[in-house]
Amino acid sequence: MNEPALEVHMDADDLDRTLRADVIAGLTADRKWLPPKWFYDARGSELFEKITELDEYYPTRAERQILAGHAPDIARHTRARALLELGAGYSTKTRLLLDALTAQGTLETFVPMDVSPSALSEAATLISADYPALRVHNIVGDFARHLKHLPGGGDRLIAFLGGTIGNLVPEERAEFLADVRSVLEPGEHLLLGTDLVKSPRVVVPAYDDAAGVTAEFNRNVLRVINNSLAADFDPDGFAHVALWDPEREWIEMRLRARWPMRVTIPGVGLVVDFAAGEEVRTEVSAKFRREGVEEELAEAGFALDHWWTDRDGLFAVSLARAV
Ligand code: AVJ
Repeated sequence: MNEPALEVHMDADDLDRTLRADVIAGLTADRKWLPPKWFYDARGSELFEKITELDEYYPTRAERQILAGHAPDIARHTRARALLELGAGYSTKTRLLLDALTAQGTLETFVPMDVSPSALSEAATLISADYPALRVHNIVGDFARHLKHLPGGGDRLIAFLGGTIGNLVPEERAEFLADVRSVLEPGEHLLLGTDLVKSPRVVVPAYDDAAGVTAEFNRNVLRVINNSLAADFDPDGFAHVALWDPEREWIEMRLRARWPMRVTIPGVGLVVDFAAGEEVRTEVSAKFRREGVEEELAEAGFALDHWWTDRDGLFAVSLARAV
């Protein structure tokens, strides 16, 4: 069995530096915000795994159904020798791709990239054990910043699953897709998972579950700031809010101060005041339509070769080719 290689493009210092910059920018803004990538320390990654098992959270099941049905099509169409997965997390659904690509005999290398070293190394150990012939090359990095470190080589398939592209706002999405296109050669592929526009009666509960797991996940960003920057947030002083924005067709997660609070964040030398009811935007999760996905892909230099949805039309997986 090959030892999984670990390549680190975000060491603890780099993580700290970007967290500090984000906290300063977000919490001194007129309308406070924090970027969603800071949910995912070890506890946050576990909470996210719990979310994917909730009855209300349909995207994971829907995407798994699509991959289970079409992984062989994806393998045949791409004949990929390397699978690069962005925001890989624990790579649970990715196994469907690994199975199809190894069965076909083309796949040599698996390169998962994630900001969470804990999720990556746990996954890599399991995957190396189950796919002994596969070279596993972990990259600790931020898919928005470290794409240039992905290995080259031809016949590559970049997978960006889970609907994570929806956590980027439109301008960030355009930049991200252009970056992905720029690391690929013509003929190489991108596999993209996108959650689809549907009734808020279905979407909202997925982000506001009855058991309160998503609420804890949302508040976890405050714990991350407490732990990394010696801040004194009282996570229970913040209510979880999930709102559907019908114009922009995205879910917004926010944390709403239940009472006035003064929070000190020694790691960045900040004192931040919250009025009762004041909100911090912690995530957007955009939902898509086929025309929009096709257009954004085309804009970045990709042709849409395949569009698959689950039986209920909740979620889509696109297979796009760099042109
Ligand atoms: C990381 C994109 C899969 O936006 O649905 C889950 C993160 N946030 N519940 C999403 C999330 C709240 C999730 N993805």
